[in-house]
Amino acid sequence: MHNRREFLKLSALLGLAASGLPQWAKASAKVSKPVVVSTWEHGQPANAAAWQVLSAQGSALDAVEAGVRVPEADPLVRTVGLGGYPDASGKVTLDACIMDHQMNCGAVACLQDIKHPISVARKVMEQTPHVLLVGEGAKAFALEQGFTEENLLTSQAKADWLAWREGQKATPQINIENHDTIGMLALDTMGNLSGACTTSGAAYKLPGRVGDSPIIGAGLYVDNQVGAATATGMGELMIKTVGCHLVVELMAQGLTPQQACQKAVERIAARLGDYQAYQVGFLALNKQGQSGAFCIHPGFNYALQDNSGSKLLDSASLLGAKV
Ligand code: GLY
Repeated sequence: MHNRREFLKLSALLGLAASGLPQWAKASAKVSKPVVVSTWEHGQPANAAAWQVLSAQGSALDAVEAGVRVPEADPLVRTVGLGGYPDASGKVTLDACIMDHQMNCGAVACLQDIKHPISVARKVMEQTPHVLLVGEGAKAFALEQGFTEENLLTSQAKADWLAWREGQKATPQINIENHDTIGMLALDTMGNLSGACTTSGAAYKLPGRVGDSPIIGAGLYVDNQVGAATATGMGELMIKTVGCHLVVELMAQGLTPQQACQKAVERIAARLGDYQAYQVGFLALNKQGQSGAFCIHPGFNYALQDNSGSKLLDSASLLGAKV
């Protein structure tokens, strides 16, 4: 550091106070916990299940698994688990990952016929030395672990797929209809963070396509000293920018969750020429229980549950009005 003026400029940029600590670290006396946040409206019933765990002093890890199992089992949630949109060949293939406060993580990709990929991901984390199992191997592992095989293509999803194949609806919406992934982040009463992310992926994707949701650092990242982030929207953009790791690193540099999500979306916009064609949303939670979100197009929202109750909040966006 050359001089005091430069130091002060950098400190201001990073949100550092005179003590050398980021603002969020100085606010450690005001930790708000427990708290759970998750993407989209389907986050509200999912948060309610997670809250049952958190409010009984359960772990953030148990909470996020219990939470995202709710939309995984709901055939009316068309972008996660049972009832999810199939790929172009009519097969429902699921992606999921989970990460705890000790950097343990597990994931499955392109998993068929198993309703709760998040629980299989947790088994990968806890029962194997690996992080990611895919396709047939992931399914064989799940069956070995006692999961049961079932048809995940509901009659509604099949009818929609047949209509799409007939060309009646060739372009899935980037946002409203195809509002994909549930990502969930929780801070428990012990002050530990965990996260989970699960999806059926992009509607009518090429068979074999895997998005960001099972990729640690892209669709989910947790650093228990700093915070956690998850993502929704067009997964390829999060993979190209390792988006959730970027959000957590920005929080480590002193940004609030809201500022970190915004900077990550701005990075995508600065680097990827076609970004306006897609929706991407980041959601983050820091060690103090503060949360924030940011997306490209208006329309992304997230659910928050803490001791004051349950809320559905609109995310600010790059191409729309700030909220
Ligand atoms: N974000 C989910 C996906 O792109 O598959």
